[in-house]
This record gives sequence, structure tokens and C-alpha cells, in this order.
Amino acid sequence: MTAKIISGIEIAKQITEEIRREVAELKTCHGIVPGLATILVGDDPASHVYVGSKVKTCQNLGIHSERYNLPGSTSEAELQALLGKLNNDPQINGILVQMPVPKHIDETKIIFAINPAKDVDGFHPTSVGRMLIGEPSFLPCTPHGIQVLLERSNINPDGAEVVVVGRSNIVGKPIANILLQKAKYANATVTICHSATRDITDHTRRADILIAAMGKPHFITADMVKDGAVVIDVGTNEIGKTPDGKRILVGDVDFPAVKENAGAITPVPGGVGPMTIIMLMSNTVKAAKMAAGLI
Ligand code: GUN
Repeated sequence: MTAKIISGIEIAKQITEEIRREVAELKTCHGIVPGLATILVGDDPASHVYVGSKVKTCQNLGIHSERYNLPGSTSEAELQALLGKLNNDPQINGILVQMPVPKHIDETKIIFAINPAKDVDGFHPTSVGRMLIGEPSFLPCTPHGIQVLLERSNINPDGAEVVVVGRSNIVGKPIANILLQKAKYANATVTICHSATRDITDHTRRADILIAAMGKPHFITADMVKDGAVVIDVGTNEIGKTPDGKRILVGDVDFPAVKENAGAITPVPGGVGPMTIIMLMSNTVKAAKMAAGLI
């Protein structure tokens, strides 16, 4: 069997049009323009690419965006001061600090300093706690994007065995929690594997839905995947550059081999990545509506 390829590009395009209509309606009916501030500290080239895509998508959708590119020498106090200003700026509904931040800045303190009402990344403990107990909250963009990708591909995790490989705060832990909830397009039996798991293959081979999010190129091989399983690849690993300097990206899954026995699979690039950006836009619009008392 050759797997169905789940195109994040196509699904993100559909959602882009839905959000474009919503943004236009907010403007005409309520005079509201959602605003997103992105903050990047330092000159990591990959982070520049990611933030650039987020800013471009805002512009494409009519969302106001403010981009703060700060030097790598920026102190934690300076970053906190900028967050304080943006927390109180009525034109800004969402604040995103691109991770990772340089080592001299405490990432946790920075996340805590963002106004939870503007936490469009869903990283603040208020958002994380609400997600855990199943209360409405800002869901982190990559895990929420995975759930929507499944939903729009008519793959329902209800009652399924879901195995997540990787336990990061950005992907592994939240996707496990989202799919565990007693809710639509969730309600799964979830296992999380990590670096101390004794026999990862023993777990992954039982998965109806396998989510690879450990950041290791081609870690998931064909023998680790049950025939017909749905495989979601969250990895974006740079393994080199083309002669003209473009980054060569591969996922955490050995795509050419795994696609031969999986039932459905996301490619890298063009799978989960585009969903992350569009869910950020969705959260920003939601934050603007909440600020205006519309929801
Ligand atoms: N770094 C990698 N993924 C993300 C993300 O979703 N949000 C932020 N702020 N930083 C990231």
C-alpha cells in the first residue's frame, strides 16, 4: 500500500481563506484590525525564516504586524520592558517571542511575562493549565495544527491508539493533552515515548496514529510503523545546503520508506509546518475578538 499524502499546504490554504473573510468582516462590521507583535532575539537564520513567514502571512491576511528584531546582546530586562509595553498596547492582540532565545535569557521568565490574554503561542501556564483541564484557551499552534490536519483529512483519533515520540513543551506534551481530551477529534488513548523509553518500537508499532516530534532526522523507520497507520511528521531538520545555499530539510520520519506501508503521511516540508503558521493567525484573530468582547 502507498500512503495518502496529507498536504498541510492545501489544508492551510482553505483555512487562510476562512480567516481572510473573518478579518475582512471584523474590519467592516466592527472596525477591528487584529495585531500581532513578533519578537526575535539574535540572528539564528532558521528563526529569521520562520518569523519572516509569520509576518508575511499577517500582511497577506490584513492582520497588523509589528516585527521586533533585537540584537543577540539584548538583556532579559530589556526584553521584559518591551513585553510590558506590548502587553498594554491596544493595537497588539498577540505577542510571539520566537524560541529559542539566547542562553543568557530565561525562556520561562519570558513566557510568564506575556499577558495571558495575548498568549497566541499558548505557552503561558494559564493557557497550558486551561488546556489540561479542557477549558477554552489558546492552544499551541503546532499541536493544534496537527489536530486540525487530522480533522480536515477525516481521520478521527476518537478511541485510537496515538503514540507521540518526543516530550517537548512546544509539541509532544501539548499534542498528547489535546488528543487525550474528551472532545471532538480527540478522545484517544495516548502514549508518549521519549529518550528514556526502553523499547520505542514496541510502542510505535501499536500506533494507529504516530506523531514524530523528537527532532532527529529519519528516526522513524518503516519497521517501527504498523501497516496502514497515520504518520504525522513534526520534524524540520536541516541536513545541509544545496549548492545555491538553500536549506535541505528532512523530517523525523524516513518518508520514502514509511510511505510504502503507512495509510497516510505528512511530508516535510509541506505537512505540519504551514499549519503552525495559520493556527497562529487563527489565535491572533481570536485574541482580537476576545479583547473586543465579541467572544
Ligand atoms: N520555535 C519553534 N516553534 C515555535 C513556536 O511555535 N512558537 C515560538 N514562539 N517559537 C517557536
